[in-house]
Amino acid sequence: MNKFIIVSCLIALTFGLTIDTTGSCTCNDLHIESECKGQLGCNWSAGACQKPNCTALGQDVCSKTNQLCAWVNNTCTTFSSCSSLTGNSIDNCTAQNMGCSWQSGDKCATQSCSLYGNNNTQYCIAPFCVLSGSTCSSFSNCGSFNDSATCIKYPCLYNTNATKCESLTCSNITDQAACNTIYLSEKQSSLCFWNNSTCVDLTDLKNLTSTSCLTNTNGAYHWSSSNASDGSCTQCYGLLLQIVFALILLLA
Ligand SMILES: *[C@@H]1O[C@H](CO)[C@@H](O)[C@H](O)[C@H]1NC(C)=O
Ligand SMILES: *[C@@H]1O[C@H](CO)[C@@H](O)[C@H](O)[C@H]1NC(C)=O
Ligand SMILES: *[C@@H]1O[C@H](CO)[C@@H](O)[C@H](O)[C@H]1NC(C)=O
Ligand SMILES: *[C@@H]1O[C@H](CO)[C@@H](O)[C@H](O)[C@H]1NC(C)=O
Ligand SMILES: *[C@@H]1O[C@H](CO)[C@@H](O)[C@H](O)[C@H]1NC(C)=O
Ligand SMILES: *[C@@H]1O[C@H](CO)[C@@H](O)[C@H](O)[C@H]1NC(C)=O
Ligand SMILES: *[C@@H]1O[C@H](CO)[C@@H](O)[C@H](O)[C@H]1NC(C)=O
Ligand SMILES: *[C@@H]1O[C@H](CO)[C@@H](O)[C@H](O)[C@H]1NC(C)=O
Ligand SMILES: *[C@@H]1O[C@H](CO)[C@@H](O)[C@H](O)[C@H]1NC(C)=O
Ligand SMILES: *[C@@H]1O[C@H](CO)[C@@H](O)[C@H](O)[C@H]1NC(C)=O
Ligand SMILES: *[C@@H]1O[C@H](CO)[C@@H](O)[C@H](O)[C@H]1NC(C)=O
Ligand SMILES: *[C@@H]1O[C@H](CO)[C@@H](O)[C@H](O)[C@H]1NC(C)=O
Repeated sequence: MNKFIIVSCLIALTFGLTIDTTGSCTCNDLHIESECKGQLGCNWSAGACQKPNCTALGQDVCSKTNQLCAWVNNTCTTFSSCSSLTGNSIDNCTAQNMGCSWQSGDKCATQSCSLYGNNNTQYCIAPFCVLSGSTCSSFSNCGSFNDSATCIKYPCLYNTNATKCESLTCSNITDQAACNTIYLSEKQSSLCFWNNSTCVDLTDLKNLTSTSCLTNTNGAYHWSSSNASDGSCTQCYGLLLQIVFALILLLA
């Protein structure tokens, strides 16, 4: 258990804060108007953030909502899961909800790089997926890219001196607008923070504000209060993760 804590601390020190972005915030989690409006589909009304009435949305917004609505049979309906949608191609499933893809036959499925091999390699794209022959898999590290054009499509940086592709770190970012999140995979991000004109690893969530909390965490954290000057940047699915963490500690 001590080893586990030490290793966790070392990871935190080396890479800054790495967060899990699988569980994103729902509309009801959001208490700040700008955060609510930043989550496509959520409806800020009467001082609170509400789930949308999907029926009132057009196809464009409907299909781009994150697990809220789906465009089915020319109407916008409440989203339940990708696998409950019927579709006959990748484009057909994606047109119903952007987070969905096509499994086979008439079944849609949650997006996954592994669905983009064989005949569908044109969908196997950076920054999340890597094509190798006719197999599409999740991006895992920069070391496998040997040309700079491929390298920079990923969260990587081409080191011309060493002629190799290396991981992008916060300190490599020189543009304030780009100093927020580095995708490590579809499910994990490392956080950066703009501090006095340099981009550094974010190590303390206290440095995120009510305007940067949701966007800089890819929608996984929210501002805990409706008062922007009183609250903190908190994980939306914190409880679930705490339980998982407790189980890991118990088993260690
Ligand atoms: C947003 O809320 C307002 C007021 O409750 C309602 O009239 C409107 O239809 C809602 N829009 C959506 C997209 O849910
Ligand atoms: C949702 O919107 C539709 C069409 O805009 C409306 O007919 C319906 O009453 C709304 N439902 C709710 C629960 O507000
Ligand atoms: C699509 O809508 C039409 C008319 O509203 C209905 O007859 C049909 O059963 C619907 N199809 C599906 C797959 O829901
Ligand atoms: C998916 O394909 C079906 C059958 O061809 C079609 O009726 C439907 O409109 C398509 N859906 C979308 C969102 O393109
Ligand atoms: C690829 O497409 C061809 C022609 O459309 C089809 O015959 C073949 O079964 C497909 N292969 C795979 C692995 O899906
Ligand atoms: C670059 O990588 C690709 C795929 O891994 C490989 O086919 C190719 O030979 C490599 N080129 C060089 C110059 O190493
Ligand atoms: C590449 O080499 C030059 C000259 O030695 C040096 O100034 C620069 O910092 C090096 N860049 C990297 C990324 O190591
Ligand atoms: C990126 O940042 C790392 C760590 O600060 C540094 O070692 C590396 O040389 C940087 N790469 C470039 C191309 O500046
Ligand atoms: C921000 O930069 C200042 C120097 O400009 C430094 O003293 C401080 O420790 C940095 N804070 C963080 C959180 O990196
Ligand atoms: C920001 O950095 C500059 C130059 O490194 C320094 O002169 C200045 O005092 C720093 N400001 C703060 C608030 O740390
Ligand atoms: C970042 O947070 C630390 C700890 O709360 C604080 O001391 C520091 O001033 C903050 N830096 C900025 C630039 O907000
Ligand atoms: C917001 O929080 C600040 C700091 O705690 C407090 O001074 C202020 O009164 C609060 N505003 C409202 C509207 O509650």
